[in-house]
Amino acid sequence: MPPFLLPLLCLSLLFSPHLLSAFPSPQPSHLLRPSSHPLAPSVSSPQQYLDPTFPSLLLPSAPPAFSIPLLSHSFAYTYNLPPFTSPYFPPSSPWSRAVLHLSVSCAGEQYDRIAAIWLDRVELLRTSTAEPSESGVFWSVRKEVTHYSSLLNNPPNGTISVMLENIVDDTFTGVYHVNVTLDFYLSDENENRKSTTPADLIIPVSEENADTGYWFRIHNGSDVRFTQFSIPSNTFRAVLEIFVSFHGDDEFWYTNPPDSYIKNNNLTTGRGNGAFREVFVTVDGNYAGSIVPIPVVFTGGINPLWWAPVVALGAFNLPTYTLELTPFLGVLLDRKSHEIGVGVTDGISFWLIDANLLIWLDPNSDLTSAEVVNQADESFISREYSDLLLNGTFDIKASRASHFSGWVNSSFGNLTTYVSNNIEFNSLVNFTNNGKDKYVLMNTKQNISLKISSGEKGDDIISQEFCEREYPIKVVTKTVPGEHDTYTSVTSLSHALYDKKYGQSGNEVYANYIIDRQEADGWMLVQDHSVLSGSASTVQMYEYGDDDSVYSRVVQVKDGVITSDNVTESSGLVHSS
Ligand SMILES: *[C@@H]1O[C@H](CO)[C@@H](O)[C@H](O)[C@H]1NC(C)=O
Ligand SMILES: *[C@@H]1O[C@H](CO)[C@@H](O)[C@H](O)[C@H]1NC(C)=O
Ligand SMILES: *[C@@H]1O[C@H](CO)[C@@H](O)[C@H](O)[C@H]1NC(C)=O
Ligand SMILES: *[C@@H]1O[C@H](CO)[C@@H](O)[C@H](O)[C@H]1NC(C)=O
Ligand SMILES: *[C@@H]1O[C@H](CO)[C@@H](O)[C@H](O)[C@H]1NC(C)=O
Ligand SMILES: *[C@@H]1O[C@H](CO)[C@@H](O)[C@H](O)[C@H]1NC(C)=O
Ligand SMILES: *[C@@H]1O[C@H](CO)[C@@H](O)[C@H](O)[C@H]1NC(C)=O
Ligand SMILES: *[C@@H]1O[C@H](CO)[C@@H](O)[C@H](O)[C@H]1NC(C)=O
Ligand SMILES: *[C@@H]1O[C@H](CO)[C@@H](O)[C@H](O)[C@H]1NC(C)=O
Ligand SMILES: *[C@@H]1O[C@H](CO)[C@@H](O)[C@H](O)[C@H]1NC(C)=O
Repeated sequence: MPPFLLPLLCLSLLFSPHLLSAFPSPQPSHLLRPSSHPLAPSVSSPQQYLDPTFPSLLLPSAPPAFSIPLLSHSFAYTYNLPPFTSPYFPPSSPWSRAVLHLSVSCAGEQYDRIAAIWLDRVELLRTSTAEPSESGVFWSVRKEVTHYSSLLNNPPNGTISVMLENIVDDTFTGVYHVNVTLDFYLSDENENRKSTTPADLIIPVSEENADTGYWFRIHNGSDVRFTQFSIPSNTFRAVLEIFVSFHGDDEFWYTNPPDSYIKNNNLTTGRGNGAFREVFVTVDGNYAGSIVPIPVVFTGGINPLWWAPVVALGAFNLPTYTLELTPFLGVLLDRKSHEIGVGVTDGISFWLIDANLLIWLDPNSDLTSAEVVNQADESFISREYSDLLLNGTFDIKASRASHFSGWVNSSFGNLTTYVSNNIEFNSLVNFTNNGKDKYVLMNTKQNISLKISSGEKGDDIISQEFCEREYPIKVVTKTVPGEHDTYTSVTSLSHALYDKKYGQSGNEVYANYIIDRQEADGWMLVQDHSVLSGSASTVQMYEYGDDDSVYSRVVQVKDGVITSDNVTESSGLVHSS
């Protein structure tokens, strides 16, 4: 079966401390959780942290055929240091599936940190850490990496790099102990798993100089970073997988007021520029696609008491985003050097972004040919701001519709790829009570459709896929100033990720969905950026379903303790005869 007859890659869900701004005008901040929870019963043994997000049924549960330990390292004072590296030796026996396994432990007092794992400049995982406790915390992340098989079998340089910038001193004592292993499996134990034939070549779109990590550090909206590359002359498919995280003044970009509000009230915060961001990609300087990132809250975010021991959606395995670039092969297939650029519309400092360009080669021919047929992109944004001193209402609506198509002639035939990307974005940031109360509501809907056809008119469909994603977030904060530079914040958060995918490949149809939601409430007493006391509860609801199974898990947490954890699983709902 030619590779394009398999399901396509679509949006894949393989899924510095900052001072508090001037009071009033509560800005969500990056806070430090007390290393012993003020209200939790004191625990003396290390506690396991989790993100009950990714269904066990998608990852193999059987022990691997063999494992390769990649790296074992303790990240103590690593600030301003280059990534830690370790040589990588590819497996010497065959395998069919690979899962990256990260395990981390930490005890003491520490902020959450961002981290990434690269193999030869190709990012494998973007992750963030939990804030530890005196008695210690530990967790692990497993991520499917089978789609990097060409790199795993044939790394050009053979170096694993892990960046985890940490500061250890008299106050911040938490050292992150990290193990990274690759688990290899022989055959697919889960026959229903949909997979795409792995790419033949993976080109990193990332920083060349390792000193500050291979990610691009993006500081503003005009800071577009580029990678030069050329592709083999028999390429028939190209997909870009993007890794994104936001930090500093943009860590909570979806809650930022416009600069006018900050200026009119003589506030000192840098967290401005409104609440809209879009990560865009260019090919030779022309727009080639974009995404509005899912707002991932790190474990020091908004109310850090929420994120123990269940962390926020995606915090341990940040979502990646894929853009189909096959329609652009018409410009890339000339053996010349080209340029992919990444940037953040309206971004402020700083964003960590890089990407992997996945390339598929024609096994039967040295030469493919291609042409771009259609490149249409329309976008719209409206901003309605009204404010009176510290009260203010800031509305942003944005939308985008882009359509790209192009044909590629290969030994599989002359096939045309159509890609449509539709984005609908709505944001409301509302300050009342003279800036002490803040209400934030953001919702993004992004649909991507992909169609491959062999006919002149695009009606002879060989394969198609639709991905619908929606990720609303609501953050409500009420702040009461207290004595001795303290304040009390009553906070609630509701956020979700709805992800639905359906498609057809040859005669086979398939569909699956993920619903991942958290509802969190609580209060905290804060001084500087340390939480002194408080109480918090989080409910995490996760559901995955496909043609023949449904998996769901509901975890309830109160003041650092899991009070209920309910897994229900059903399979064989639909029996195909
Ligand atoms: C890392 O691996 C070593 C050796 O197997 C083990 O002693 C240690 O507990 C592991 N640490 C973590 C965080 O998994
Ligand atoms: C390539 O390998 C050398 C030697 O091991 C190492 O110093 C360098 O960082 C590696 N480069 C990349 C991009 O991993
Ligand atoms: C944007 O960031 C780049 C890189 O840090 C810097 O060179 C440039 O001056 C900045 N532009 C603006 C308008 O701030
Ligand atoms: C901001 O500062 C300016 C200059 O000091 C002053 O005139 C103005 O009244 C201040 N605005 C507010 C809202 O405090
Ligand atoms: C299309 O590709 C096939 C297979 O590589 C090749 O034989 C054929 O000549 C190509 N057609 C054109 C018009 O280039
Ligand atoms: C996405 O697709 C669904 C189902 O067709 C539709 O209801 C929704 O309006 C679409 N949203 C966008 C942003 O195109
Ligand atoms: C802003 O919040 C206040 C108080 O909760 C509410 O009365 C008002 O309707 C909100 N404004 C908008 C535009 O939602
Ligand atoms: C701001 O809104 C509050 C109600 O939320 C009101 O009591 C206060 O007077 C308003 N301040 C100004 C300057 O209008
Ligand atoms: C491929 O098909 C398109 C129309 O769908 C046509 O315009 C183009 O010339 C064809 N290319 C080749 C190499 O046959
Ligand atoms: C677990 O879920 C099942 C099915 O929804 C429900 O009947 C049961 O009451 C739940 N148990 C708890 C402890 O929530």
